[in-house]
Amino acid sequence: MEYDEAREFDQADTLSPSLTPEQMRRLGYRVVDLVVDHLAGRAGNPAADWAPADDLIAELGGPVPRGGSDADAALDQMVKALAYKQHLDHPRYFARVPGPSSYAAILGDWLATGFNATATSWATAPGPSAVEYVVLDWLRSLLGLPEGTDSVMVSGGATANLTALAAARGVAGPGVAYLSDQTHSVLPRGLRLLGVPDEDVRILPSDEDLRFDLAALATAVAADRAAGRRLWLVAATAGTTNTGAIDPLDELADFCAAQGLWLHVDGAYGGPVALTDEGRAAMSGLARADSLVLDPHKWLFQPVEAGCVFIRRPGTLLETFSVDPEYLSDVTARSGLGDYRNRSPEMTRRARAVKLWLTFTIYGADRIRAAISTCLDLARHAEARLRESEHWDLVTPAQCGIVTFALRGADAAEHQARAAALAADGRAAVTTTTLRGRSVLRLCLINPLTTFEDVDSTLRALAAPTNA
Ligand SMILES: Cc1ncc(COP(=O)(O)O)c(C=O)c1O
Repeated sequence: MEYDEAREFDQADTLSPSLTPEQMRRLGYRVVDLVVDHLAGRAGNPAADWAPADDLIAELGGPVPRGGSDADAALDQMVKALAYKQHLDHPRYFARVPGPSSYAAILGDWLATGFNATATSWATAPGPSAVEYVVLDWLRSLLGLPEGTDSVMVSGGATANLTALAAARGVAGPGVAYLSDQTHSVLPRGLRLLGVPDEDVRILPSDEDLRFDLAALATAVAADRAAGRRLWLVAATAGTTNTGAIDPLDELADFCAAQGLWLHVDGAYGGPVALTDEGRAAMSGLARADSLVLDPHKWLFQPVEAGCVFIRRPGTLLETFSVDPEYLSDVTARSGLGDYRNRSPEMTRRARAVKLWLTFTIYGADRIRAAISTCLDLARHAEARLRESEHWDLVTPAQCGIVTFALRGADAAEHQARAAALAADGRAAVTTTTLRGRSVLRLCLINPLTTFEDVDSTLRALAAPTNA
């Protein structure tokens, strides 16, 4: 075989006139420096920075660039634009669901992107497919799911829940689906996308601890049976987005087994808590789910995007999503493993497991587990501070890294003003939400780089009067 080393070397970049290998390396190292400077300096930078959309669009837009321009200047401009965001990886970013990605995972994403690695089929991408197989099997065993559990990686929680619901519908549906008023909004949306009619979706009031109410479920199921309706699925949550509450998974699993219902568990946010000793006990029912979702880009220290779907019944994903057109016949799996392109709605898909493989291999599961435990301690610390302060009412205790609280005498507008003032100052970012009609502030503590003092200073800043 002819092998033209010189040609390969000169044409390392794709578009002509291309960047030379030296320029590629220099720009690449510059990007590494920019990222490491960002990571190392983040505690001293704003947790959130905002600019008007019109200004940003004007700055970045204009006519389509017809000719090229200086790469360093383009990078400078891009770094400037990237500053205007809520910094999910900042140690005082406590809003929504933070994304404290680890450096090994960042390296994994870079590497997979640099190699344009797809995990599609065993024939076209045996390496990335094997990485995904291994990572999903590690996660399966850490979560206590049985061997043979079907699994796939997708972009995140919304897609993972949609994928699981589609698979569940093929096996156990159609019929009535039971959700709680604390179920994440992507589930009702997913049901809508799957064509489930509104009259088949029950959103039941949660119990006083904002967990799935078994009595309400039993009543609704009995009523639907009496009305002759076909029943399908219960969607529980392991770590709700509002309060981190864990639904009574064991009891729900017993109920679903007795009633012949599919138990889906959305562990997108809280699932990683099951990796810790205390979490394993609190989430013992997790491993009994018929389908389970976990989002490594939340609390497993991965950059977006990374979501996982696990389906207890082997072969379900392939049954749901397989398409084998003639133009893919020479790359269709003939081994018993099944191709990843046939396990979700995606066809060409990123090798998302590369970052997880590097994370687990470089740090080890024990370090990941310890980092999650640190976050659980941070939330308990926040709860203790809130309990001892005269400014605050603790509304829900530390659960899966989340605490909610209210300023005594404050209404929603006051809470929103305080959260906005904090974010505008850049010191920290928190979320407001509403629990049973009551406005609350919410801290989501899943960054192991957060210190107790970060928590204390944020609570002090929130308690200080604003002029807003
Ligand atoms: C419990 C839960 N489920 C699903 C989702 C949706 O996940 P994603 O935003 O990754 O699509 C979230 C997001 O916060 C969540 O907290």
